[in-house]
Amino acid sequence: MTKSPRLPRAIGASGLTSSPLGLGCASLSGSYGPSDETNALAVLREAFSRGVTMFDTSDKYGNGHNEELLARAFSGHRNEVVVASKFGNMAGKDGKIADNSPQTMIASCEASLKRLKSDVIDLYYIHRIDPAVPIEDTIGAMARLVEQGKVRALGICEVNPATLRRAHSVHPIAAIQSEYSILYRQEAEEVLQTTRELGIAFVAYAPLGRGLLTGAVQPGSLGEKDERLRHPRFSAENLPKNLELVDAIRAVADKRGSTPGQVSLAWLLAQGEDIIPIPGTKTMSRLIENIDAASIILSEDEIGFIAKSIPPDAAAGLRYRAEHMKNMYL
Ligand SMILES: NC(=O)c1ccc[n+]([C@@H]2O[C@H](COP(=O)([O-])OP(=O)(O)OC[C@H]3O[C@@H](n4cnc5c(N)ncnc54)[C@H](OP(=O)(O)O)[C@@H]3O)[C@@H](O)[C@H]2O)c1
Repeated sequence: MTKSPRLPRAIGASGLTSSPLGLGCASLSGSYGPSDETNALAVLREAFSRGVTMFDTSDKYGNGHNEELLARAFSGHRNEVVVASKFGNMAGKDGKIADNSPQTMIASCEASLKRLKSDVIDLYYIHRIDPAVPIEDTIGAMARLVEQGKVRALGICEVNPATLRRAHSVHPIAAIQSEYSILYRQEAEEVLQTTRELGIAFVAYAPLGRGLLTGAVQPGSLGEKDERLRHPRFSAENLPKNLELVDAIRAVADKRGSTPGQVSLAWLLAQGEDIIPIPGTKTMSRLIENIDAASIILSEDEIGFIAKSIPPDAAAGLRYRAEHMKNMYL
């Protein structure tokens, strides 16, 4: 079993903790092209046996398939893992991006509990902010789920500092989950000032820049069912520019005998004890490679070199397509 020199990380003030790196499970239900279920279960169980304790899912991933997968993988071990799920991301269905109404939230939670075959969701996030519903109403309703024991702690994805403060004034928010990597860190660095003031953990999604920071995605390498084809960072124009940025990470990795992906994760882990990156993979060897990254302690020089070589505004292409950026960081 791989041993990380890093201690578990607190999930805000909730009393829950996570291994330094959690596992993002979305791609195990097809978000980046087809996924084999037997392999997915093996990946989840291997992660658990190597000390990963937080598993990130959503009712949106595979339309519920992902939650069912977690239930199967951790049958008999439910109390040994932190299951984080989400609701409210309509992804444009019926013309709506988000639905945060209390009724939808309550029904979504019940459906997730059924799929998870569990009485409780450890960490329950709003997946996308719905400007039509005051955040106080949604968090107020979520707080009642905490009182009823159906949810242990609350989280919000893609939230800005002002909305986060409003939410936290209704019920303690344990974690936010937003995109955070060396490549895309402007909003993360801004909201971190507020999460730190309020004692909230930062769960960093897409910590490998959706695979870009590993150097493994090359022009023409994405399959036709891979949703990353729609992301500006991978466009024919932007991908070569972004791959040039990875050279600085590779330079540090080569000197250490590690990989660019590992150095990218170690860099994020070094940004603070409150950061919990959740890299995703459906490949066993990459899972092990990523978990081993928690053992890499970068020097101040290495951390500074990477930050200077890849300034916060260096990425070519927005995080999402322009029409979707409107729904982020609200
Ligand atoms: N809250 C939100 O709105 C939101 C949005 C996006 C994601 N998320 C969460 O964040 C998790 C992680 O994000 P993500 O999967 O989008 O991005 P990511 O973790 O940055 O990158 C995942 C991609 O990198 C590849 N990869 C992983 N390890 C690798 C390695 N060592 N070498 C080469 N390639 C490697 C994977 O390929 P293979 O699978 O082929 O190995 C996959 O295509 C998701 O699973 C989800 O739980 C949340």
